[in-house]
Amino acid sequence: MTIAYDVLVVYAALALWAVLLVVGVRKQSYQTFLGFGIVILLFLNIRYFIEGPPAAIAFFIGIYDVFDNLGLGREEGAPALAQCVDNACTVWGDRFVNHPSWGVAFHDRFLNGPQFRTNLLYTHIGFNSIAFVMMHYQLLRPGRAGNRQRHALIGRISFLALTLGVFTAVWLAAEHHSVGEYGGTAAMLGFWSMAAFVYATAIMGVRTARRGQVAEHRKWMIRYAGSMWGSFWIFRVMLVVTGPLLRNWETASLLLSIWLSAPLGILIAEWFRVRSVRNSAPIVAKRAPMSVAGR
Ligand code: HEM
Repeated sequence: MTIAYDVLVVYAALALWAVLLVVGVRKQSYQTFLGFGIVILLFLNIRYFIEGPPAAIAFFIGIYDVFDNLGLGREEGAPALAQCVDNACTVWGDRFVNHPSWGVAFHDRFLNGPQFRTNLLYTHIGFNSIAFVMMHYQLLRPGRAGNRQRHALIGRISFLALTLGVFTAVWLAAEHHSVGEYGGTAAMLGFWSMAAFVYATAIMGVRTARRGQVAEHRKWMIRYAGSMWGSFWIFRVMLVVTGPLLRNWETASLLLSIWLSAPLGILIAEWFRVRSVRNSAPIVAKRAPMSVAGR
């Protein structure tokens, strides 16, 4: 039986990434964790341009096949699982014949769909990946006296990339009302809400930068980063957990990711931001109430 070594490499990379997160939390320094996350993201996304969407989607589904089939016999199905023609929608060969039904529909949409749809997907993945990488660069190198102009220029390019990435996502999602395996209209509206969260936080970042409100600009850019992280990473990590847990309800796990990933990302980013502001508040200010009490 086929062993999908590439998928095993992704699992190993994700495990190492989790370790880097723990180390980052302990040291209060996240650069290595963030950098490694970008490498994994590029490894997943560049495949679309090298192999074409059907093969890259089969790889993507292969990541979930292992979890969604946990505890089930080889031929044993579930309401949220489906089979695909010639079992071509996975990289696991005959090892798994049942796949998440959204995955089967996703593969079919790009194997048998029009070239225009594929071009929309290429544009979405390409430009959102560029915006994602640039966002990290900007956060790690904020605009200060020496590099203000460069920061502004990269910010403009990044916003343009995001606009193209989000616009094509909204277009792709507009087709989902007829894709029952995604959740139909609920999936379409959910993807639109995800786009709204991402784009609205980015626009607030741009507006505050234009007005010269530096502190507000940083706040909104951290929220934007949370929404981007949510729509990419939280979305995909949630599916690993909710896929097997909710396989008795078709579309439940995908709809949860679609609706919750971006707002959850914003909430988590906000939590980190507030915590780091508190931690960096002057010690005198933190101790003030105690000294008052002590008097
Ligand atoms: C702005 C929020 C986002 C929305 C609304 C969105 C929406 C979508 C939609 C509608 C699809 C195609 C599903 C189909 O038509 O069958 C898709 C796929 C995809 N998107 Fe996004 N997306 C967003 C954010 C991102 C980000 C930030 C990235 C990359 C950094 C990204 C990368 C991908 C990839 C790689 C796929 C293919 C599936 C996979 O292999 O993961 N998306 N997205």
